[in-house]
Amino acid sequence: MNIYVTRQIPHIGIDMLKAKGYTVVVGDDREPPSRKRLKKMVSKNKYDGVLTLLTDHIDAEFFDVAGPQLKVVSNYAVGYDNFNLKDAADRGITLTNTVGISSDCVAEHTVALMLALTTRIVEADSFVKRGKYKGWDPMIFIGTDLCGKTIGLIGAGHIGARAAMHLVKGFEAKVVYYDIKRNADLEAQGAQFVEKLEDVLVQSDIVSLHVPLLPSTHHLMNEERLKMMKPTAFLINTSRGPVVDEKALVAALQKGTIKGAGLDVYEDEPNLARGLAKLPNVVLTPHIASARESARDQMAVMAAQNIIDVLEGNEPKGKIKTVIS
Ligand code: DGY
Repeated sequence: MNIYVTRQIPHIGIDMLKAKGYTVVVGDDREPPSRKRLKKMVSKNKYDGVLTLLTDHIDAEFFDVAGPQLKVVSNYAVGYDNFNLKDAADRGITLTNTVGISSDCVAEHTVALMLALTTRIVEADSFVKRGKYKGWDPMIFIGTDLCGKTIGLIGAGHIGARAAMHLVKGFEAKVVYYDIKRNADLEAQGAQFVEKLEDVLVQSDIVSLHVPLLPSTHHLMNEERLKMMKPTAFLINTSRGPVVDEKALVAALQKGTIKGAGLDVYEDEPNLARGLAKLPNVVLTPHIASARESARDQMAVMAAQNIIDVLEGNEPKGKIKTVIS
């Protein structure tokens, strides 16, 4: 069997594929390979499985060049908005992801962004490092409490539920949430379901996004919805960048429509909307919410195992439902 891994991932996953006797080609690109490069790679060799990253766009064009022997494309990510599900279903190709693996660290990163905004720790760190600290001052870097605040989750899957658990237990927060499906486990922790997404926006001191990127969630947070948030509220996004209209967000932050934002993902990665990086009331991280050794190793293991399962005729744990009903 021939496998193409589009870029370097933790070796534990590559070793699993090699241990099966597969021939494994690992891309050596330092940056995400272009669409042209991906197609060139799969047209040169006949791969039975491809292990992709969230930056690789996989659709009909890719499948057609890859050839009919291709059986599985395994994403090294939980999000799979880089896959065209229908194109894969039409060709009987199995798609998989690393569902469930990174929930804990993404939830922790979500809470870290909240704390970074409420404590102003990033601004304060830069202040001290720039030699600006001249002695204790009762009036500098006055922050906001996180304890006891109302946290609004939009999307209550694995990650949202873990974040809620940390916030309720650790910060005695009140959690309200909106999702298309109710989450009984989350409600058992005290989270309160609200019927309308807008109710989350109006009530919350911090709004945190945990939805997949779908046509229905693209620009879910637009100018109109940002205006529904409290002027003292923060917005956190660790899901996918295009869920927020980034231009509208920059305008809202400049005008004081909302107080601040913590972002790990961007609408057009790695580019940022004009003005975003200049704002003092944002904390920005480079899509690293799952960047922990244990999570990344486990993601590599699951992505490799998904390929092995498909090639051995078994149902992979991370199989994505490609038939959209
Ligand atoms: C995911 O898993 O989808 C993250 O965005 C990257 O690890």
